[in-house]
Amino acid sequence: MSISIRPFDGNFGAEVIGFDFETNGNEDTFQLLRDAWVEHAVICIRHQKIEPEFFLKLAKIFGEPIPQLINHKAFALPSHPVISVLSSGHVDTLGSGKPINRGGSWHSDHSNTPQPPSGTILHALQLPSQGGNTRFTNQTLAYENLSSDMKKKIEGLKAKHVYQSKYSTRKMPTRSKVDEAISPTSFHPIARTHPVTGRKAIYLNPVRTETIEGMNETDAQVLLDELLAHSAQDEFQYSHEWKSDDVLLWDNRQTMHMAAADSHLYDRERRMHRLMIKGDTPF
Ligand code: OGA
Ligand code: MN
Repeated sequence: MSISIRPFDGNFGAEVIGFDFETNGNEDTFQLLRDAWVEHAVICIRHQKIEPEFFLKLAKIFGEPIPQLINHKAFALPSHPVISVLSSGHVDTLGSGKPINRGGSWHSDHSNTPQPPSGTILHALQLPSQGGNTRFTNQTLAYENLSSDMKKKIEGLKAKHVYQSKYSTRKMPTRSKVDEAISPTSFHPIARTHPVTGRKAIYLNPVRTETIEGMNETDAQVLLDELLAHSAQDEFQYSHEWKSDDVLLWDNRQTMHMAAADSHLYDRERRMHRLMIKGDTPF
């Protein structure tokens, strides 16, 4: 039996039904999955009641999993340390001791690294009965709907991505001194070309983009804010309502995402396993 790929009703994204390593875990299916990921920007592979070993195998269809950058024992799965555990119960143990607001505002993963992950993949293990959606913007659609003046204005501009921009409204968890010492800063094009489709997308990360090369910080923030407001319009968004055993994979090269900041609605722990896929230098 082959898989079926059904685009969601909204602006983008698709669900994959019927994937199973035993019945259709072959190269043809893997290629369909890779194509769907790039075409739809976010794909949800349903009904994956799988062990961590198979989650890792599933991620490897899309590329090479990268080691977790956050050097924090609580976030690594002991049996498979490349997998990180994402739990609503985690607190900032190295700092305030308060719950961590992980992913709770628009961002693109690890964009301060020279080669940010092409994709991030989550496996839903336990979900609260209310709240906990993950929201996405489609930055290709957002780019294509910019005015031609704005397209000209951002052509060739590079944003400076730091670990945490001083303008970020969300604070990252406290890190160890070792992690702090190795945190890179990178300059990436704002109009980013997707290496597979050749289409351009607006590459933004309000948590990390502090300024734009050759511009003063105030003007840079005004422009970045304008691009963010444009990108976050409803017509470019998809909000994922999780079901148990969902595996959700997104393309960081053409989306932003955020955890809906509504953990006050949770009636139980929200727990996921997480992997990131090695990416290329943005151009
Ligand atoms: C992430 C992230 C959002 C969520 O894992 O990178 O931002 O909804 N997660 O958990
Ligand atoms: Mn994230």
